[in-house]
Amino acid sequence: MTTAAVPRTVLLIHAFPLSSEMWTAQKAALEAAGLQVLTPNLPGFGGEAGELLGLDQAARLLLDQLPIEPVSVVGLSMGGYIALELLALAPERVGRLVLADTHAQGDDEATTQSREEQAVRVLKEGPGFMIGKAEQEQAPATAAQTRRMTLQASREGIAAALRAMAARPDRRDTLRAAAERGLPVLALVGTQDDLTPPEQAREMARLSGGQVTELAAAGHLSNLDQPEAFNQALLDFLL
Ligand code: MLT
Repeated sequence: MTTAAVPRTVLLIHAFPLSSEMWTAQKAALEAAGLQVLTPNLPGFGGEAGELLGLDQAARLLLDQLPIEPVSVVGLSMGGYIALELLALAPERVGRLVLADTHAQGDDEATTQSREEQAVRVLKEGPGFMIGKAEQEQAPATAAQTRRMTLQASREGIAAALRAMAARPDRRDTLRAAAERGLPVLALVGTQDDLTPPEQAREMARLSGGQVTELAAAGHLSNLDQPEAFNQALLDFLL
């Protein structure tokens, strides 16, 4: 564990195809604890214009919005992929890292193909088919929130993000390098996360020399399913 000062600024990077609104409960809890919290919308999401040209481009956009001194970076799912891009690009800007319901490997061939099919379909039909599928897998309160956020995303933004995720590299080496630097890393995961299950969180913790916290009765969007437990895990790690 590094002895560097605890960062006072926290960057929260949202999941796909959601928006900064997903962090409402976390922002309130972290601000109440005296931290400065940044919750940007990625291009194409939450009413933000533009499209992601790549996850590395997303990381560069975020770096431009950060203070020069190291910050704590928290990313959930796609947000975690972008957090790893940011760490690879500018390790000196990351003082603590939380990887929630995500993983460090690239996509396999089947996932790449399925993302391309979804990108073509969303451009033609809009995101309705994605909402229906997500709703079957989510708790009712979480489903209501994700429906609202998904409908704010542009079709072009969703398609571009799907293609950007498919093109991302394997970042396990980035975690190994983080272990050498002594970067504090927390892998957070819902015990019922079927998309990025607890084994993947444990792998990220092992590679980075970090810790893992599993949240009971939480699925892939663990911060929406169990906001209080998620907030407590963040506060314990970030303060
Ligand atoms: C997310 O929740 O951000 C996405 O499910 C990530 C992915 O599709 O790999």
